[in-house]
Amino acid sequence: MNGTIGTASPVAAHDVARPTLRPADPRFSPGPTAKFAGWTLELLKEASLGRSHRSKIGKAKLQTLITKSKAMLGMPADWRLGIMAGSDTGAVEAALWNMLGARGVDVLVWESFGGDWAKDAKDQLGIEDLRVLKADYGQLPNLSAVDFDRDVILTWNGTTSGVRLVDGDWIPEDRQGLVIADATSAAFAMDLPWDKLDVVTWSWQKVLGGEAAHGMLALSPHAVERIRSYKPNRPIPKIYQLRKGEDLNEAIFEGATQNTPSLLAVEDCLAALNWAGDQGGLSALIARTDRNAQVMFDWIARTPWVENLCEDDKHRSTTGVCLKVVDPEVASLDEAAQKAFCKSMSKLLDQEGVAFDIDAYRAAPAGLRIWCGATVEASDLQALTPWLDWAFATAKAQTFS
Ligand SMILES: Cc1ncc(COP(=O)(O)O)c(C=O)c1O
Repeated sequence: MNGTIGTASPVAAHDVARPTLRPADPRFSPGPTAKFAGWTLELLKEASLGRSHRSKIGKAKLQTLITKSKAMLGMPADWRLGIMAGSDTGAVEAALWNMLGARGVDVLVWESFGGDWAKDAKDQLGIEDLRVLKADYGQLPNLSAVDFDRDVILTWNGTTSGVRLVDGDWIPEDRQGLVIADATSAAFAMDLPWDKLDVVTWSWQKVLGGEAAHGMLALSPHAVERIRSYKPNRPIPKIYQLRKGEDLNEAIFEGATQNTPSLLAVEDCLAALNWAGDQGGLSALIARTDRNAQVMFDWIARTPWVENLCEDDKHRSTTGVCLKVVDPEVASLDEAAQKAFCKSMSKLLDQEGVAFDIDAYRAAPAGLRIWCGATVEASDLQALTPWLDWAFATAKAQTFS
């Protein structure tokens, strides 16, 4: 590793005492995220286990999940919401495979998942009239360059860079193309401008802290119209077919999933939605998330060795807060050594049992990522920050002494 010997550290690493207070819940992973406080397996005892998802009771559970999600998110009544196989990826893929190709496509890419959707559009779907508007980690692409006569794909909250959109003011209401938003780290934690979006997707294991399994696919009337009027010239796997004959397969949006869902995961998501309702619904979840993120933002502001990966304060994610180490000695290491440094920090915290799974995404720049979604407690983040200082000082002493 670069700089492992003989460099005098400006930080008196050994002076940072091991904190005594530990987060009650060390789960700060960006997905699956922590369960809400008070969650127990007992809450799943009414799960329709061993029953068909097409039985009256199974279908009712799926329908309730759809209805409750729509209501809590304030989704317009004329939108459809369906449960898909394959988590958020499945929901996004269903939209791309069924809808793309009718017109040109602009993909906005500012982190890894947006990059994946761009790759799919190009390499899997072979979209020829494709523009990729790309920015480095920490930044947003030039939003004014987007052409809304084309279909637009974007990732509302970039989980791997901690950069998010904050409003849809830059999206015209009278657009011709569809706006397809992967909102998996945003739904239930941020306001979504439904009138500026046509497809919105998310999964249960992010802000709700549910079990990973299925993806939610929300369609505006404009998106439904696309499915009715456009039949792409490509084979679509059965689980992602949204058409039935010449029309939308409406049954999907009434709880008749294309294939078998996990009714245990469904029950868990219903428990999370009940918890969310008890908290006060969407505005309370957003407030919890904002409060959590503020704990991290305040700590970053008073901590010289760290910065938010997101360069513009306005677009800082409130769910996946991404950190970069700016201490001059660490920052002077090459990228691989910086990654190793951050890894040694996360390993120390894992060994102490105070923070699990906080490594930056594998394709992202060196850093750490702290999930601040609604199921995380602000007091746990408060307790975590001295540990981050301790891990930094300890890793620094190990690296540079
Ligand atoms: C923005 C974004 N899109 C897509 C995914 C993939 O989600 P899933 O594993 O639910 O398919 C993730 C996962 O972290 C994500 O953060």
